[in-house]
Amino acid sequence: MEHHILSKIITVLAIALAIVLTPIHSLSAHAQPRINLDQGAVVFKANCAGCHIKGGNIVRRGKNLKLKTLHKRKVDTEEAIASLVTNGKGIMSAYGDKLTPEEIANVSAYVLQRAKENWK
Ligand code: HEC
Repeated sequence: MEHHILSKIITVLAIALAIVLTPIHSLSAHAQPRINLDQGAVVFKANCAGCHIKGGNIVRRGKNLKLKTLHKRKVDTEEAIASLVTNGKGIMSAYGDKLTPEEIANVSAYVLQRAKENWK
């Protein structure tokens, strides 16, 4: 009898633990999305290349995506690029409601990667 109650308690605890741990797990997966540079390239071609072909800027030539410019203008991390893309800046429109956070993370990583390769 005692043994039976104990195993019930263990079962209840295990279920409670699973419930408690599940959201933590999905949150941490969300906080650090896995970067996919291939998807970043696709997003860039479809949404950014119109103005930023080969890392340039056809609207504001000085505000290009070359590494030196990104350093100077302090948009030289994935987070800073993602924030600018999400919120927009000047003539450049915001992409927060057009692209998913994953697409923005991927295109930001792609921009930084290509800038480091000098867009070659
Ligand atoms: C309609 C043209 C246009 C499109 C499309 C566009 N941008 Fe821009 N982008 C601009 C302009 C203009 C600026 C300069 C904004 C400012 O500082 O006034 C800019 C600035 C930037 C900067 C900062 C560069 C710097 O030197 O200050 C980054 C990074 C950037 N864009 C990335 C992107 C990405 C990634 C996309 C696609 C998701 C994108 N842009 C789409 C026009 C565009």
